[in-house]
Amino acid sequence: MERIEKISPFIVMDIVKEAQKYHDAVHFEIGEPDLQATPEVFEALEKAVKEKKLHYTESLGLITLREKVAEFYSRKYGVDISPERILITCGTSGAFLIAYSILLNSGDRIALPDPGYPCYKNFAYLLDEEPVLIPVDRSTDYQITVEHLREAENIKAVQISSPSNPTGNVYDEKNLKELINYCSEKGIFFISDEIYHGLVYDKRENTALEFSDDVIVINGFSKYFCLPGLRLGWMILPERLIRKAEVVMQNVFISAPTLSQYGALEAFNYDYLDKITRTFKERRDFLYRELSEIFDIDVKPEGAFYIWANIERYSNNSYEFSKELLKEIHVAVTPGIDFGKNKTEKYIRFAYTRDIEHMKEGVRRIKDYLKSRKNR
Ligand SMILES: Cc1ncc(COP(=O)(O)O)c(C=O)c1O
Repeated sequence: MERIEKISPFIVMDIVKEAQKYHDAVHFEIGEPDLQATPEVFEALEKAVKEKKLHYTESLGLITLREKVAEFYSRKYGVDISPERILITCGTSGAFLIAYSILLNSGDRIALPDPGYPCYKNFAYLLDEEPVLIPVDRSTDYQITVEHLREAENIKAVQISSPSNPTGNVYDEKNLKELINYCSEKGIFFISDEIYHGLVYDKRENTALEFSDDVIVINGFSKYFCLPGLRLGWMILPERLIRKAEVVMQNVFISAPTLSQYGALEAFNYDYLDKITRTFKERRDFLYRELSEIFDIDVKPEGAFYIWANIERYSNNSYEFSKELLKEIHVAVTPGIDFGKNKTEKYIRFAYTRDIEHMKEGVRRIKDYLKSRKNR
């Protein structure tokens, strides 16, 4: 099969396009925050334009920004990270490409959760690597465990995301520690996608860096910081991998966007960020309560901004069901099949990236529709 044929489309983007046809659509499909970043970011961007900051930065990124990221780790998790170990990337998406390039050779196997963020496997395919999809479910709270890794043969790397997209589950401290220890014993690279950190509602999340320096941690500005359009992320690398990552960065991207880096310098306004977390928590509480009345929800999501709802009461085909909701009541959700092959036809994903009033209307329409559908 040609390499490009292995790359699946991101169905949610098709749904987003389709939903735009309806002026009264209710949006539960969109995986980016509607909230704005702190006003200082916009001022910093304007200032950077006025000062004509449009040259490349060094490939590792502005040192001032890397220092801010290091400060974030010391403040939020109490871990001491040297800015030398931080690389500013073009979104976390750019960071995955770099990580998979420096850790794996063609044909190497990387373990990924199923359901999970769909693009991981496509990065592996682009580099002729082999994604190994690990089926996860409610029995482990949708977490990959050491047991799973023992069963998977010949794994070179494992990638997790916590909180996860699409289920919103957060890895507990014990499991995370065990996974990292196991990977270190077996010489397996551990990659932790922490892009939804900060959006955790019932407990404190752990960064993989609390348990080892020999992991790759990836995070960015698209979710908690509400700046997806900056296209900025970062990766924290063990010392032995910094130069390798820098070389890929130099060749593939040269540097992350300069204006964005100046804007991001002002993104670390912690009082403002606390408000962002509180707003998403209120939305999570509202939507979880409402959806629990009509769908089975395996695990209460503790983070990110998603709810993974089982639709078996109504359908066994998440794609058709999503299309039906959009066509009949103009409510857009994402079909589970976007996120893997593990029973994903029985689930749809709701994103709470709009305000409660907007969601109330969507929930009302779904409840009325499902009632009338039953009576048909
Ligand atoms: C788990 C996860 N990781 C990474 C990304 C990509 O984010 P970006 O490239 O904007 O940093 C997303 C986007 O939805 C995501 O859900």
